[in-house]
Amino acid sequence: MGRIIILSALAIACLISCGAPKKIENKNTITSPVKYKNVEDLLKKMTLDEKIGQMNQYNGFWNVTGPSPKDGDAAKKYENLRSGLVGSMLNVRGVEQVRKVQEIAVNETRLGIPLIFGFDVIHGYQTISPIPLAESASWDMEAIKLSAKMAAKEAAASGLNWTFAPMVDISRDARWGRVMEGAGEDPYLGSAIAAARVKGFQGDDLSDPSTLAACAKHFAGYGFAEGGRDYNTSVISGEILHNVVLPPFKACVDAGVSTFMNGFNEMNGVPVTGHIKLQREILKGLWGYEGMIVSDWGSIGEMKAHGFAADDKEAGLKAVLAGSDMDMESYIYVKHLKTLVEEGKVDMALIDDAARRILNLKQELGLFEDPFKYCDLNREAQVIGSDELKMAARDMARKSVVLLKNENAGLPIKDKKSIAVIGPHVSEKNSPLGSWRIAGKDNTAISVEEGLTKYKDVDWSFLQGVQLTTAPTNFVFETKINEDDRTGIDEAVAKAKEVDQVIMVLGEHGFQSGEARSRTSLDLPGLQQELLEAVHAVNPNIVLIVMSGRPLDLSWADENIPTIVQAWHLGTESGNALAEIIMGEYNPSGKLPMSFPRSVGQMPLYYNYKNTGRPSQHPDPNLVFWSHYIDEENSALYPFGHGESYTSFEYSNFTVSQNNTGYLASVTVSNTGQMDGEEVTQLYIRDLAASINRPVQELKGFEKTMLKSGESKTITFSLTDKELGFYDNEGNYHVEDGEFDIMVGGSSAKVLKKTIERATTSLKP
Ligand code: BGC
Repeated sequence: MGRIIILSALAIACLISCGAPKKIENKNTITSPVKYKNVEDLLKKMTLDEKIGQMNQYNGFWNVTGPSPKDGDAAKKYENLRSGLVGSMLNVRGVEQVRKVQEIAVNETRLGIPLIFGFDVIHGYQTISPIPLAESASWDMEAIKLSAKMAAKEAAASGLNWTFAPMVDISRDARWGRVMEGAGEDPYLGSAIAAARVKGFQGDDLSDPSTLAACAKHFAGYGFAEGGRDYNTSVISGEILHNVVLPPFKACVDAGVSTFMNGFNEMNGVPVTGHIKLQREILKGLWGYEGMIVSDWGSIGEMKAHGFAADDKEAGLKAVLAGSDMDMESYIYVKHLKTLVEEGKVDMALIDDAARRILNLKQELGLFEDPFKYCDLNREAQVIGSDELKMAARDMARKSVVLLKNENAGLPIKDKKSIAVIGPHVSEKNSPLGSWRIAGKDNTAISVEEGLTKYKDVDWSFLQGVQLTTAPTNFVFETKINEDDRTGIDEAVAKAKEVDQVIMVLGEHGFQSGEARSRTSLDLPGLQQELLEAVHAVNPNIVLIVMSGRPLDLSWADENIPTIVQAWHLGTESGNALAEIIMGEYNPSGKLPMSFPRSVGQMPLYYNYKNTGRPSQHPDPNLVFWSHYIDEENSALYPFGHGESYTSFEYSNFTVSQNNTGYLASVTVSNTGQMDGEEVTQLYIRDLAASINRPVQELKGFEKTMLKSGESKTITFSLTDKELGFYDNEGNYHVEDGEFDIMVGGSSAKVLKKTIERATTSLKP
């Protein structure tokens, strides 16, 4: 009773005194000492040191994401900041912090040029959306755009104005930990997603304080690291570079991306940070890109370790000549560029060009008018963690889930029964946030347990079976899942015997993928396979939910488990989204953006491979000398574009006709099942004989359609020279005559096919 009275008194007091949320007074001060009309006018007022200063980016004085050179201590950084020798900071976030640092730049330096504040807003800021690979499985460009828009809104409310995203590196190797951060293996899908993300982050107007400048990274070839080893060597032919690696970057330029980042890797013998052909010739030359290029963390200095520069000074020289405009955390530009200019090794025009690109971005962001426009404490308090952001994250999470198989309609759960939910990820609140969520708070994801317990009429029991030994973090190389403690397995098996159904939640910890998280095995880590088999031995009625940052080898599960759901790392709303899918409130519609292997030995694995002279689908299986493994099939276990639904779809009336711009491919898609659902119809081509061998399939169109049970729709794709051509090794675009296979379907491996004969030769310059 006493407690109730106290609580009521508090509530009344609050009603009287709180009323509307209190307005916090912003203490933004603008006393910029020098006035200038525009960027050109400003450039005229700047000294060489000040121009070079714009090309220098420091990490905040905490939150280090990589090794720092010894002299990069906080005191030196503050000193350089005050002398106008810094153009941008990364990892300074939160309105209070950003304002403090911006005040130094604006009020204490000679020209008062504001800083830009960059941060890795990769999949959400504090409200975490699914990892980018998961979002890509939605094939839903509007949803992906909205997700980036929400991330921008939250991050910008925290004082930031620049995200180092999207990562648009195509990768064909699931051993590479950074596949979680990209859009998968296909350049066409990857390009569409790249453009959607750029537009989502940047909006229509960069000066809108709820948008961020985006950054296309890592230019280029980082996803082709040999053996899937992060930071490693890439060897990429001209044809693959132009047809596979570059298209998503070009899509970013076309979408108006403000910035680019180069990378850590070398490509064909030259570190990309010092790559003249990539940066100066292709990006800034051929594509006419007018924005700026930032180096990756310390990548200018790392050109010494590559064996491409003898010392820091030479590394700086090679980077600036190649077109790297801003030095992230190498401290080399600020130290050596002036001497390089004075010695005549670097033309002043290059420095002016780099400084101009950086200052133009500041102008577009509106920072010259108001350097503190992102520093609004009220906005920060209202926006961060808001319900609007959570709802958007939940919707994106639902859309990202891929139903890999669903024999005997194991999902959704129909009858109210007893269900044991088993696995180390069942109650996890940290791991589902995934990798690259630096501002995400630990243990804030809704767990599967929390999501499911809301459904009261099922008799749930939740068991870990095996535990995660440690809670890995972003910066500690501690990503092992329990490998020796079997104490929970017996209890899980005993429970599994008693119940009608088992749901197992297994997979990788959120920090087992991401930067520097390459793996040689694609198995379920630790004791999870053992747990799965032990439970299966007593109750095979299992729904398997797989959480991972990359495709795993699910061969055993595919043979033995009737229902498998690929749930990636779905972010803050993970458990809520999964529960809705498990209980049938949402019908999954995701399709794989990367092939899932039968064995790690198949890596690299991708659907758009070349046929070879001795193709794997040889008509005589007894012949030995053709391109295959002697112990495994070549094909993916679950191919690119695959994904099932609680309903079923059928394809019919496939026609291809000619029109004055090329061809029209039409197909009727029918929902033949009992539930409403969405289907992603995919269009593929194959150029059967060309001057450069073409892949057996190339995605050239897709459309996601909602169909009510029993409903049919006709979908039409247009095939013009843009879809039918390809680049040669020198980057020239060709559209050639001859036969083309045109394929449509709901997966790369399940298509209807027609062959056309193209007869009008055209060769584009
Ligand atoms: C990563 C970049 C990232 C940068 C800043 C590097 O280690 O490769 O993608 O943007 O750190 O955090």
